[in-house]
Amino acid sequence: MNALYLLVIILFSTPACASEQIIQERLNHYRNEGAKSFSAQHGKALWQQPHMRSDLGRKVSCASCHGADLHQTGKHLRTGKVIEPMAPRTNPARLSDAGKIEKWFKRNCQWTWGRICTAQEKGDILMFLKSL
Ligand code: HEC
Repeated sequence: MNALYLLVIILFSTPACASEQIIQERLNHYRNEGAKSFSAQHGKALWQQPHMRSDLGRKVSCASCHGADLHQTGKHLRTGKVIEPMAPRTNPARLSDAGKIEKWFKRNCQWTWGRICTAQEKGDILMFLKSL
């Protein structure tokens, strides 16, 4: 009886997909770094916000490579390489590895915005991607 009880608890406390658990861990981590409550709406605005890159002579945003519809594949602005869909619901491999998330946040914020993103911004963006 006890074992069955335990099994039920385990089943119901296990997140639906890997990304959900990893995202929660990341959000906690960002809170520890001083972030407040997260907003998918603000994450969406950040994702779409264009920034001028004078060296390229054009404005870029996260959508420049990841595409407008995050349930579909994107295309790298420079190399033309296909980028798998960003929405975890469509692509369960997404946002399931903390190391990968941080590596690409660092690289892509730098590339797109010319600076690293704050803990608050990363949390807002994860909330947005998770909501898709
Ligand atoms: C110049 C093209 C480009 C731009 C612009 C870009 N990305 Fe990316 N992004 C990539 C590539 C390439 C990868 C890694 C390949 C992959 O995962 O499919 C990636 C992966 C990621 C990942 C890792 C997702 C995972 O699988 O866990 C995150 C998070 C991410 N990008 C966020 C952003 C954010 C936030 C912005 C805007 C600030 C942005 N990207 C702008 C090309 C880009």
